[in-house]
Amino acid sequence: MTDNVQGCTSVAGGRTPGATTPIVVALDYPDPRQALRLLDALDGAQCKLKIGKELFVRGGPQFVQQVARRGFDVFLDLKFHDIPNTVAQACNAAADLGVWMMNVHALGGAKMLEAARNALDKTGGSRPLLVAVTVLTSLDAHDLGEIGLTGTVEENVMRLARLTHAAGLDGVVCSPRETALLRGALGADFYLVTPGIRPSDSAADDQKRTLAPCEALQAGASYLVIGRPITRAPDPMQALRAIQSEIAPLLAR
Ligand code: C5P
Repeated sequence: MTDNVQGCTSVAGGRTPGATTPIVVALDYPDPRQALRLLDALDGAQCKLKIGKELFVRGGPQFVQQVARRGFDVFLDLKFHDIPNTVAQACNAAADLGVWMMNVHALGGAKMLEAARNALDKTGGSRPLLVAVTVLTSLDAHDLGEIGLTGTVEENVMRLARLTHAAGLDGVVCSPRETALLRGALGADFYLVTPGIRPSDSAADDQKRTLAPCEALQAGASYLVIGRPITRAPDPMQALRAIQSEIAPLLAR
């Protein structure tokens, strides 16, 4: 594990040109009011924000729009997985909320992935980024076998990431431990969005295979999704600043 800035030597992964930060804070709060309290201390140059199912169901599309209007890039993490037409319409609706990034499940298949991408292409202008989840990190090889997927988790991740790439999506969500492999196989322009990030001084919580922010960037991550190390810190702003300082030498290169 990299535990100091001396360990930060180079970045292998790309990000949106002109992007100011690779940090995406996961707003995993049960109540939109709690999330808004954190937002009051932040601005969009410091981090991007991920809104997942719990907060979306509680706060609704209005909450997403409210956050986007405050100048934050919003990653809407709803992991759509349905028939192609339904997913395409859902992506359209999400784009209307002004989000920066959204996601679908690669297991929905090539037709669904292409329908989602085509729907966003039709929105014109600077459409939201579209990334796919390959294999949920909660699944192991035994779980995959039960649903009829043979091979190792890594083989399934690679196959689904290639399918996502071929369908013209912008990237995948992946575990930090898969990042180097995917970066090597899929090239510099494919976004790798990695949760499971733990600064060297934080608890792992329920994450089993973590990397430090510098390590993940060096392995080729484009964006780092970080929740509890920031949102549950006694001083979230201080925790965010510490991570920013930790990765600053890498981003300056
Ligand atoms: O608190 P923590 O940093 O573990 O939060 C990580 C965020 O990334 C959570 O919102 C979690 O749901 C999400 N995530 C993950 N692992 C995945 C996909 C998403 O931890 N494979």
